[in-house]
Amino acid sequence: MQNHHNIMDLRRAAVRALPRPIFDYLDGGAEDEIVLRRATSAYDDIELLPQALVDLSASNHQTQIFGRTIPFPLMLAPTGLTRLFHKDAEVAVAEAANKAGLPYCLSTLGTTTMEDFARMTTAPRLFQIYIFKDRGLTEEFISRAQEGGYDGLVLTVDTLVAGKRERDLVNGLSLPPRLNARTFLQFAAKPRWSLPALFGRKFDFVNVAHRVATMSDKQVPLHVYVAGQFDNSITWKDVEWLAARWKGPLAVKGILRAEDARQASECGADTVMISNHGGRQLETAVAPIDQIASVADAVRGRVKIICDGGIRRGSHIAKALALGADACSIGRPYLYGLAGGGAQGVSRALDIMREEYERTMALLGAATPRDLKPSMLKRIGPRA
Ligand code: FNR
Repeated sequence: MQNHHNIMDLRRAAVRALPRPIFDYLDGGAEDEIVLRRATSAYDDIELLPQALVDLSASNHQTQIFGRTIPFPLMLAPTGLTRLFHKDAEVAVAEAANKAGLPYCLSTLGTTTMEDFARMTTAPRLFQIYIFKDRGLTEEFISRAQEGGYDGLVLTVDTLVAGKRERDLVNGLSLPPRLNARTFLQFAAKPRWSLPALFGRKFDFVNVAHRVATMSDKQVPLHVYVAGQFDNSITWKDVEWLAARWKGPLAVKGILRAEDARQASECGADTVMISNHGGRQLETAVAPIDQIASVADAVRGRVKIICDGGIRRGSHIAKALALGADACSIGRPYLYGLAGGGAQGVSRALDIMREEYERTMALLGAATPRDLKPSMLKRIGPRA
């Protein structure tokens, strides 16, 4: 994968590897995808103002999140249905995360069990949780995470209903896939993906599958059960409820407002994740990078701030940190690598991000994350 020089090269590798409907599920966003494009272009609207002649001989990019020290301020965001993108799924991603020493968060809707994930992860391991109508299931996740030695729980709060992802509607992407003549040809065009994926592996939400197995009506398809399980009556009281039960760091993911970050902190969270779900949920939601400063003003020092959405360059991490974030998180960049080259592809994505970040830091005159400050940034407004 060494001939892939940036994340967009890995994206092209994913285009080559995946049947079109699967690539679109990975890559796409809500409605007109304005929110998706804006997440990245908002970073381009910020220029860097480097500081000259700073002693960089003792550069150190380490930082602390979820109570662990990590080599540079990046983590791998939770993504569901990972096995759609490569047969090795979370196993491949965990291998690369372990090698890089970066935290990796398993999704509730992931394709590896929490127990297997715990066994294969040596880097900080996190579990992304939803509050389900069936509180027993949520409580079960909490105890499984406790027993598996997870370093933190991440509660996602921006998916009470699914976003309108029109690429998926056009492609008829559903579980199980509904193949028409066009999609059949799209799958047939990528036999290296289609044969092992369609015949060898299942895409079940393995961490919730046992619930359906024990239900009286065994005919309910798993995804229908899951979709019906998101509790849309949850409020901050439920965050308190979760914080009281989980003995460890708790993050709330999907925060965009300063007052919500403050609420999260008051309810017992020690990390907020500024995120619009990678532009897959609320169309025209604000770009996460534009919310860091106000969130940091509200909660700096009391909770850690992690930002995700649209991060494609190491310089984007430096910009987010200069505005007040403690770390960043990426979804699609590592999934492009996974689709294009399995564990090696994920490692390539992480190496690219690290190399670009460290180069940006050096050219900017910042020896450590603490040296980054807002005066190193200049807003230029949207480019023409
Ligand atoms: C996601 N994301 C996500 N988030 C979450 O909390 N639980 C989940 O199961 C998923 N699933 C998921 C699948 C896919 C294919 C993608 C692309 C994203 C959102 C993810 O955690 C993160 O917020 C975004 O991916 C960040 O944006 P970028 O880096 O993809 O631009």
